[in-house]
Amino acid sequence: MIAIAILASGKGSNFQSIIDAISEGGCDAKIKVLISDRPYAKAIERAEKNRIPVELVLRKNFDTREQMDSHIYGILESYGVELVVLAGYMRIIKGKNLLKGYENRMINIHPALLPSFPGMNAQKQAFEYGAKVSGATVHFVDSNLDAGPIIMQEAVDISDCKDSEEVASRIIKIEHRIYPKVVDMFSKGRFRFNGRRAIYVRD
Ligand code: GRF
Repeated sequence: MIAIAILASGKGSNFQSIIDAISEGGCDAKIKVLISDRPYAKAIERAEKNRIPVELVLRKNFDTREQMDSHIYGILESYGVELVVLAGYMRIIKGKNLLKGYENRMINIHPALLPSFPGMNAQKQAFEYGAKVSGATVHFVDSNLDAGPIIMQEAVDISDCKDSEEVASRIIKIEHRIYPKVVDMFSKGRFRFNGRRAIYVRD
């Protein structure tokens, strides 16, 4: 069993998919804490409903992002977190001690096949670009936006989508399936690196 923290700013449907997979026995993890930077995030309701501790970390209470991330690092340490799972966390992690302290132990999910369409509104970017295929990517978090080594990807045909909402609804289904799977992989093994290639080794 791996001790994880979720960082979320919004709806928290990926957070929910991990809660559900844990309760169904498909993900061997314990969610120690939800950290959010938005007091009204729906993710907070989900945590409360499932008796998961919530830590609100508001940007306005810190002079710099470095200080904010340092505070988050302290929270993660105090809960004994082994893996940090970003799930719709809308801030770029800048703090050096957080990035270093959780190097190769912090993951994110992105609604496109990276390195295509990084950043905001990836589903809309893919639709407007005219891409025929898009998907979801789980990757390690490093100091660059949506650019850490890739852990898992799954593609979906979007050639017949009528708008970007339809693209988003196909991709989110993939996200909900693969994110808990990746968390479970961390509980049963680890990754080693060959350059940028993350290679999974089961314990
Ligand atoms: C997801 O599309 C995820 O890929 C992106 O932010 C969105 C979060 O959705 N990073 P939710 O809050 O998990 O519903």
